[in-house]
Amino acid sequence: MHSTRTHLYSLRPGFTLGLGVLSFVLFLILLVTGVLLMVYYVPSVEHAYGSVKDISEVVAGGRYIRNMHRWAAHGMVVVVLLHLLRVLYTSAYTRTRRVNWLVGITLLCMTILFSFSGYLLPWDQLAFWAVTIGSNIFASTREVTDLIAITPFFDPGGFARRLLLGGDSVGQDALIRFYLLHTVILPISTIVLVGVHFWRIRKSDGLAIPSGADDLVLRAQGITEPLAIEQAKLRREHTVLSWPTTLWAEGAILLAALAVLMFFAILVDAPLLAPADISMPENPAKSPWYFLGVQELVSYSAFTGGILVPFLLLLSALAVPFVDTEEKGTGVWFGGQQGKRVVALSAVVGSILAIGIIAMAISIGWQWTRNAPAVTALIVNPGSILAASYGLWSWIVFRSTSSTKMSVFALASSCLMGGIIITILGIWLRGPNWEFVW
Ligand code: HEM
Repeated sequence: MHSTRTHLYSLRPGFTLGLGVLSFVLFLILLVTGVLLMVYYVPSVEHAYGSVKDISEVVAGGRYIRNMHRWAAHGMVVVVLLHLLRVLYTSAYTRTRRVNWLVGITLLCMTILFSFSGYLLPWDQLAFWAVTIGSNIFASTREVTDLIAITPFFDPGGFARRLLLGGDSVGQDALIRFYLLHTVILPISTIVLVGVHFWRIRKSDGLAIPSGADDLVLRAQGITEPLAIEQAKLRREHTVLSWPTTLWAEGAILLAALAVLMFFAILVDAPLLAPADISMPENPAKSPWYFLGVQELVSYSAFTGGILVPFLLLLSALAVPFVDTEEKGTGVWFGGQQGKRVVALSAVVGSILAIGIIAMAISIGWQWTRNAPAVTALIVNPGSILAASYGLWSWIVFRSTSSTKMSVFALASSCLMGGIIITILGIWLRGPNWEFVW
């Protein structure tokens, strides 16, 4: 998949941080440990829990394989998100890389679906209620269709949830669907898409680097005279052979990831609560951590939190390479000094807005629409206000810098901080009945 030679600029550890390769390595570890787990796992509501318990307690080495699989799955969601941020903040999405950015967004969605579909398989209380809550988010359009009284005739949310679960609740049909998604459909489609992703990198002549990168790496080697630089370029000294140099670097990431995961798998066990019991809801019932921000917004408005904000986020992410077409700053972290300032300021603004709006909603009990018509709550709620204020901030940055790149950085950084804050709120500060606990 590699070109014969790799540019030394893209091999700088602080440039890619090895995150793309690490995403791939985690995916490979998941495939291998997943196939091993399939030997004993039984996808039926009667036997799923028992088979996972056997894997953890009876099968030789089963517990470590399961732990590795679980932690690699969480790790992959985090690492793929970080890889997206590195590609975004080094503007590695322009021109020929547009398609790869879109492929990447699809890979991110698939990674999340991968993790979500695996969540149900142990069939314990955590799995059952997390997936019940998570899949209810799919039916969020009902807030609108109920409001205009058309749900009995037109119910896209209910349809989406039924498609996912095979019924209106989590049961045997859901388990088989999730199993099929998790072990056949998603692995095959991810392998194909990762292949396309790598092929596109090669078609773009490797990673995105700034126009003066050749000179930069040669100067770093102590070659400073203009004539000497030209001669070194002819001898291609700003590049190295991909085999062995690049492959050794990738091998090192593989070994480091394996070592960390094995260590972690020995120390921390993957959770397995009591068997799923439909009559004993968990309180609070929380979705997996990567959906907790959405769940927090859903608690204000199902439509805004479950559909509108995720849709706007996805649309904005897909639009990035079409909005920012500036070549300057490509391959440079934050595009330079101005970008660093914009990102830092946007992170602060994004945090203040998120904390301010949610604190207000919690302290005054989310009352400002209580006596207003239901449609007002649908439009004006903490989620929509937060989304609108981030959009406004991005526009202000665009007006003051006249740079589409800066407005993209402003939107991404403020949304990122908002996402982190509401996720932390969902993980640690929401208790029984989704009450705020301090
Ligand atoms: C399963 C998930 C993914 C895997 C295995 C993966 C793997 C990789 C690898 C190995 C590279 C080259 C090294 C590097 O840049 O670190 C890369 C580059 C790239 N990735 Fe990903 N990636 C994934 C998800 C994503 C996501 C979510 C995005 C963004 C939306 C993305 C966009 C890109 C782009 C545009 C490049 C080219 C960067 C450049 O030319 O400098 N990828 N990916």
